[in-house]
Amino acid sequence: MNSLIAALLPIGVFGSCPFMDIGTPPSLKAEVISDSDFKTALEGLDIEALEQDLRILMTDSQTCWPADDGHYGGFMIRLAWHCAGTFRTSDQKGGCGGAGIRFPPESDWEDNGNLDKARALLVPIKQKYGDALSWGDLISFAGTVAIRDMGGPTNPHCFGRVDDADGNKSDIFGVTDSWQDTDCVVQGNCQEPMGAVKVGLIYVNPEGPLNDPNDLNSGQNPDPEKSAVEIREVFGRMGMNDSETASLIAGGHAFGKCHGAGVMTSGFEGPWTTTPSQWTNQFLTGMLDEEWEQVATPSGSAVQWQTKDRTSILAGTMRLTADLALVNDDAYLALAKHWVCDQQKLDIAFAASWKKLVESGGGWLPVEDRRCEPESKATGQQTDPQKNFHSVCATTTTDDSQEASTATKFCLSFLAVVLTPFSLGVHSWLA
Ligand code: HEM
Repeated sequence: MNSLIAALLPIGVFGSCPFMDIGTPPSLKAEVISDSDFKTALEGLDIEALEQDLRILMTDSQTCWPADDGHYGGFMIRLAWHCAGTFRTSDQKGGCGGAGIRFPPESDWEDNGNLDKARALLVPIKQKYGDALSWGDLISFAGTVAIRDMGGPTNPHCFGRVDDADGNKSDIFGVTDSWQDTDCVVQGNCQEPMGAVKVGLIYVNPEGPLNDPNDLNSGQNPDPEKSAVEIREVFGRMGMNDSETASLIAGGHAFGKCHGAGVMTSGFEGPWTTTPSQWTNQFLTGMLDEEWEQVATPSGSAVQWQTKDRTSILAGTMRLTADLALVNDDAYLALAKHWVCDQQKLDIAFAASWKKLVESGGGWLPVEDRRCEPESKATGQQTDPQKNFHSVCATTTTDDSQEASTATKFCLSFLAVVLTPFSLGVHSWLA
């Protein structure tokens, strides 16, 4: 009986959000306007007002789907990331242009669980701005405004993604039940031209790669080092290099939480930081400062990680195997240390990689018809007062200006040593 109540609780408490049928049309189709009508309407879009409306939405928690920590920011970033993260360089397909995430197959993927509620929350804003605001622009901008509203770094956002009327363009990515119809040979270890390792995921398995790369039923290997190899491969298929990949994960998981208790999404449970709706680099510092040990997810079916020190300030936070990949790979670790010693560098890297992510792929108006925010909208990339604060910095970095002045002093003394006897010699020869 108790388990029945527990199973019904999320439905009873949260009910169903209004507008679900508009964010995710049950007819699997939506009305779209012509490109030229969209171009004309976009010219009139009040981007400043839209940002203000989105900022209000972020903290306007609705009973149908209450905001974690009082802020929808993490939820909206995940929606935007999953909308854009389908992009693959193999054939330049995917991306948030077209907003294929609203329709099957994408809307049905296990990885996109509960994102129908995020789209439902956005419907009143879509209705207010009408044809001037495409779903692709709305979803991606909701992610950008979420980062801004939580104090994070962003670059100017560009508008002009043209919506599709259905999800047909995503058919090549496949549906989980009939993954054999795609170009994937081993489900769970798909290779190019597929973007993700599994039909139904956006990227890698959070719990690490398959134990046996040829067998979906071999289970996941929670080995951060092996996960790093898979992350590099899969984010590479999205056109992301090491710095772009690591900054995206470190920036993304600075916010929000995993849901595996009460609200069930991925089955993992807990936030990455002690302030999930505030931009910090605690996601990275936590992985450098703490030792992490494996623990079962609430359902017992998967592995996540907790701090070994159960009295730590981070004891209530968690890490995925794929998170720990960033400190179990030489190149990612070097980047992590670099950013922990100078958060401004992480700010700059994350703002740039986020912009690249949400602008990847086709489904746009021609470049001359797009609209971009002014450069002054680049937020949150301030000089870092905490520069070189972390203990790993003492040995790995020095202040740039100090480096420069040390180098100058070295050159001057070198010249003095070499030139003094010479000039003395010239002097005595002249004399
Ligand atoms: C290796 C790559 C990644 C893996 C394996 C991964 C995995 C996950 C998982 C399992 C969740 C929990 C979902 C839930 O239960 O609600 C999650 C949430 C989240 N992810 Fe990622 N993720 C990755 C990359 C990214 C990137 C690149 C971003 C954005 C730049 C991002 C942003 C987020 C955010 C903001 C949440 C929190 C959602 C919320 O608070 O509702 N993730 N991720």
